[in-house]
Amino acid sequence: MSNLLLKICDQYVADFEKAEKKTIVSKSSIYFTGIDLGTASIVLVVLDSKKNIVAGAHQPANVIRDGMVVDYIGAIHILCELKERLETQLDTQLLYAAAAIPPGTNRLDAGAIKNVVQSAGFELTALVDEPTAANTIIGLENGVIVDIGGGTTGISILKDGEVVKVADEATGGTHFSLVVSGAYQIDIDEADVYKRNSKNHKALLPILKPVVEKIAKIIKKHIDGFDVEVICLVGGTSCLTGIESIIEKEIGIKTIKPKNPMFVTPIGIAMNCSQEIIY
Ligand SMILES: Nc1ncnc2c1ncn2[C@@H]1O[C@H](COP(=O)(O)OP(=O)(O)OP(=O)(O)O)[C@@H](O)[C@H]1O
Ligand SMILES: [Mg+2]
Repeated sequence: MSNLLLKICDQYVADFEKAEKKTIVSKSSIYFTGIDLGTASIVLVVLDSKKNIVAGAHQPANVIRDGMVVDYIGAIHILCELKERLETQLDTQLLYAAAAIPPGTNRLDAGAIKNVVQSAGFELTALVDEPTAANTIIGLENGVIVDIGGGTTGISILKDGEVVKVADEATGGTHFSLVVSGAYQIDIDEADVYKRNSKNHKALLPILKPVVEKIAKIIKKHIDGFDVEVICLVGGTSCLTGIESIIEKEIGIKTIKPKNPMFVTPIGIAMNCSQEIIY
């Protein structure tokens, strides 16, 4: 769905997709990296000194669960590999990074994320919450960002451009895969692949409607009492064709989504990177 509000965000996503296919080699004096250590995948976004997207990489991974590092060595290994690949392509060393955690992640889990990032050779300059990071490139002033990822749904409510509430609940793409797995009698990995193919979305929507309605209920519960103009969906699970219509119908608030919602949070994370090492 194309929306004027999402024009800038859509452009960033298009830039990322282009840069991931072909790295833009420029002699930038400095590079900023965004690291999204997700439940389903690890994404890296590299910006040049002018904050243009110049490189990117993503890889499916099973090393983080809802902001919690479940395979510490595995996480560092993947991150190092992606970092080295992008460093070779850019002919530079990547130093400064920003990372993200689901809203409400406790200090111990946030510390583990920090350690993974630093063990891969980065200096951590920002640790932001995921839906708020996404809003860095969406720019909602009054509304809600909902990041439906692999493991959880993160919510950030904005009023006059300020974050007034964040929340995170354990329902995400994995639950969608479980439903597909049950309905088609296939294993969960196969269900995940099937679910990602947009050709299957029309047939899947009625099957997945109850899980989408559950997510709508979660959003509704958290925005109760807030004056919300618009809901913006991001995260890989928001790629599901028609998910926005079900949520809009359930909640009764205009619901929009950018072109490829999966990369909005990682790009937003990168935009929060600076040269100020604070961790
Ligand atoms: N085209 C698609 N259609 C439907 N679902 C998709 C599509 N692409 C990805 N997904 C789903 O999105 C989920 C991954 O989303 P995302 O990459 O945002 O998660 P994550 O950031 O790794 O997880 P989390 O933020 O919960 O830790 C997976 O469950 C995946 O199956
Ligand atoms: Mg995520």
